[in-house]
Amino acid sequence: MNFGYFDDTNKEYVITTPQTPLPWINYLGCESFFRLISNTGGGYAFYKDAKLMRLTRYRYNNAPLDSNGHYYYIKDGSTVWNPGWQPSQTALDAYECRHGLGYTIYKGIKNELEACVTALVPIGADCELNKISLKNLSDSKKNISLYSYVEFCLWNAVEDMNNFQKNYSTGEVEVVKGDSRSCIYHKTEYRERRNHYAVYAVNAACDGFDTARESFLGTYGSPAAPQSVGNGTSCNSIADGWQPCGSFRLDITLEPHESRDFIFMLGYIENPADDKWEAPQIINKKKANELMEHFLSIKDFDNALLRLKDYWSHLLSGYTLEADDEKLCRMVNIWNQYQCMVTFNMSRSASYFESGIGRGMGFRDSCQDLLGFVHLIPDKARQRILDIASTQFENGSAYHQYQPLTKKGNADIGSGFNDDPLWLIAGAAAYLKETGDYSILDEMTPFDSNPDNQAPLMEHLRRSFHFTSTHLGPHNLPLIGRADWNDCLNLNCFSTVPDESFQTAGASEGPVAESVFIAGMYVKYGRDYAQICRHAGLTKEADDADAQVEQMIQAVLKSGWDGEWFLRAYDAAGKKVGSHECEEGQIFIEPQGFCVMAGIGVKEGLAEKALESVKNRLDTKYGIVLLQPAYTYYHLELGEISSYPEGYKENAGIFCHNNPWVSIAETVLGHGSRAFEIYKKICPAYLQDISDLHRTEAYVYSQMIAGKDACRFGEAKNSWLTGTAAWTFTNVSQYILGIRPEFDGLCIDPCIPETLSGFTVTRHFRGAVYHIHVDNSAKSQKGIKTLLVNGTPVEGNMIPYQKDVTEYHVSAIM
Ligand code: GLC
Ligand code: GLC
Repeated sequence: MNFGYFDDTNKEYVITTPQTPLPWINYLGCESFFRLISNTGGGYAFYKDAKLMRLTRYRYNNAPLDSNGHYYYIKDGSTVWNPGWQPSQTALDAYECRHGLGYTIYKGIKNELEACVTALVPIGADCELNKISLKNLSDSKKNISLYSYVEFCLWNAVEDMNNFQKNYSTGEVEVVKGDSRSCIYHKTEYRERRNHYAVYAVNAACDGFDTARESFLGTYGSPAAPQSVGNGTSCNSIADGWQPCGSFRLDITLEPHESRDFIFMLGYIENPADDKWEAPQIINKKKANELMEHFLSIKDFDNALLRLKDYWSHLLSGYTLEADDEKLCRMVNIWNQYQCMVTFNMSRSASYFESGIGRGMGFRDSCQDLLGFVHLIPDKARQRILDIASTQFENGSAYHQYQPLTKKGNADIGSGFNDDPLWLIAGAAAYLKETGDYSILDEMTPFDSNPDNQAPLMEHLRRSFHFTSTHLGPHNLPLIGRADWNDCLNLNCFSTVPDESFQTAGASEGPVAESVFIAGMYVKYGRDYAQICRHAGLTKEADDADAQVEQMIQAVLKSGWDGEWFLRAYDAAGKKVGSHECEEGQIFIEPQGFCVMAGIGVKEGLAEKALESVKNRLDTKYGIVLLQPAYTYYHLELGEISSYPEGYKENAGIFCHNNPWVSIAETVLGHGSRAFEIYKKICPAYLQDISDLHRTEAYVYSQMIAGKDACRFGEAKNSWLTGTAAWTFTNVSQYILGIRPEFDGLCIDPCIPETLSGFTVTRHFRGAVYHIHVDNSAKSQKGIKTLLVNGTPVEGNMIPYQKDVTEYHVSAIM
């Protein structure tokens, strides 16, 4: 069953009922002002940081889940309704929501009145704009009232939720009514000279307003049935403490078939900190006025929408696919890349599963996200790499998270996740392969955000690499520390080995517990590191790195192989994890994917065996589960992983993030059909018809799908902000379709199902456009037989980079 359809021409997903199984959301904003918006108009806005600069309030885990938003009410006779159905839930005669790239349009029809809301955040401005279009579809005149409503958050979203003894007495607003514009200024905190405020405005003289929530809703009222709306009045309230809100009432007469449009704005204004322009209790409205002048008209709104569409079309034109598979094309061309951009903007901070008040930017997460957007926004990717590297410690280890506003490492969480350093190499290598811009390696970059302690980025990568080389355990495999990619595999959380270094380092270190997964990473990214050294003219260092990688391969082959698959780890007592010898958790997905991706055991035939085991033991119809058999009770020696019931999250859930690793691994072995089968299993476009089971948005990836051991097998959770976006795009664009940036140029190495007869990709790369056609009439799964570049035959599958050539016509025959 589905709840809508893809409109590829408009690059939109069209939702046809407000009653989706979960709120289906979209993101507005791509610079500093953001709004989460659900298909019923729910969600909230913030400036840069969802925790510190929250403009509108959201109630988490509410019932119904999504009942706070930026809403519009229509009072038409005795009927009160919302164009997005929520929160009044008055039945609509028609409904549709279109989530597009950076904008959302939702529309309701009731009693022959149509109300359509288009919401966006314009490029280059810190505000949300809504155009509401009202259309009288009937043959008689209509007298209606339109109410708008937002509930302000008192900026710091955590304080807002808990410090009521203060909050209930700080709220302040100012209302300015004009002939062609009405404004509500939310200025709580302004007196503390923090100089930020919000402006909420409409391009019309209002007939009434409210800024005190209680006045608008009624003491026992709720957003589902605000008292003022029911009465057809407004209280013209001025908030004084308690809960400031913004509501305008417009009384509107619509002649038969007449339409009228209004523009609403919610803007964020920041004045200089020492601004003494007016008396401190009256805010300086200069910037707000400019913003309104700029955007608060229908013409300006329409322009802003056009600009936004141009922005996205241009952005996504960097990689476009034409193939005889509509679903594949819509994921590659639209939704997967769009989701990658959202992970760039949000990291893991704000979604309907991430509250915006919890995590900062993850070191590991952000490095992986880079893989998915580096081709779209190389300049921003460059800055992101330097920001991340600036939080690294001198010894190469890293804070696990950092704060987006201050860009400083988060000391509460600290370090000790021993995979983190290597992800920095992964991110930097992706950037270098994409851009060829080696100057980034010379950028002076602080350690631990200390400007007095800087070194070139190259030195940071060196320390990353050597951190692993110098933190090996008894089997010469990397020490796992607090955890590796799998946050929940906490092998040092309870140690049976009394050891001094372990004691002093608390639970974070440990001299014994080792990770085969990190070994795989070290081999894959250590090779990249060696190549980076070689490019930098450091031949000896490159050779040394290669030699160390070779030793790691030997260590894996010797102590990381379990007979039928790669072992996962050794615990703090030196016991195997992810081995047939274990009672539960005998096989894990991560080392199978990563070791094979790194090429370990390929020539020995172990890679084939490992992937066979994945297929036999971990694969399900909805994707590959993380481990088997699931842990049925809490294992002290393993930590958080077994805190989840069977089939959820890291305990044998289908953790979508690492399914593409296995798919990529299959391409390493040349199994195009199998790689594509794995790709499709978790790919939203192919799953639309099981939306009722899946429940999350049909157009984006979720972090997790409940595994076969779970009661709710097949149900997805944690949509949007997941490394799945970057990894699936890397998989499909670089390994399945095989258009892969390498240090020396673009490589054409498709690995596709034999049923795909060919495809065409247009790829922007290092200032040139590549038109690449791959012909697979031979029904092959991997391998290029002939390659023509601008008419000239080329040996191998690497397109030689020629300076000054800006257009490449590439024809590859498989
Ligand atoms: C979450 C985290 C990610 C981690 C994964 C597995 O997705 O954001 O950093 O690798 O869980 O535990
Ligand atoms: C929990 C989750 C994991 C996530 C982590 C982030 O451990 O299971 O997926 O990465 O929290 O802090």
